[in-house]
Amino acid sequence: PRPILLTRHGESQDNVRARIGGDSSLSDTGELYAKKLANFVEKRLKPERAASIWTSTLHRSISTANHIVGFPKVQWRALDEINAGACDGMTYLEIKMDMPEEYESREKDKLRYRYPRGESYLDVIQRLEPVIIELERQRAPVVVISHQAVLRALYAYFADRPLKEIPHIEVPLHTIIEIQMGVTGVQEKRYKLMD
Ligand code: G3H
Repeated sequence: PRPILLTRHGESQDNVRARIGGDSSLSDTGELYAKKLANFVEKRLKPERAASIWTSTLHRSISTANHIVGFPKVQWRALDEINAGACDGMTYLEIKMDMPEEYESREKDKLRYRYPRGESYLDVIQRLEPVIIELERQRAPVVVISHQAVLRALYAYFADRPLKEIPHIEVPLHTIIEIQMGVTGVQEKRYKLMD
């Protein structure tokens, strides 16, 4: 069995301001997580020479991998956060106030709701297909440093959770979800590195 480690990027400037989307850098807290993650990965994967680190193309994801040395890094557009289109950079409160119909439709069907000029969860699930195929093919461990919506979909695939649950799965910050795929099925461990 070989592990797949899933984690969100460290806390970003936009997380602090409660803004969705964007391409902000890490907060000081997020920066600290990046260091702790590097430490963890080095200890956990040291003997596993062929392991690789996959990030999205967004700053907060790439920076979270910054302190991890000695493993190849791969950037995937397909690991970028759900595209919030016209709502990119807004807070949920601003969306509720300025675009109440959008807010409502998303509340009603978060899985199918597509942001104006952006994506739905279903869109994200679809674009993740090549990532999943590649993850399945890998024999060595992979550390995936991505984003909340994307990780909900990836996690649901490995943990065999139903489609309708995906937009509501909890994927907390600063926590590593370790998936082990063995003959008897999938095992999961969580490591909360900080609050
Ligand atoms: O920025 C987007 C969030 O990570 C996705 O969260 O789908 O629960 O709004 P949400």
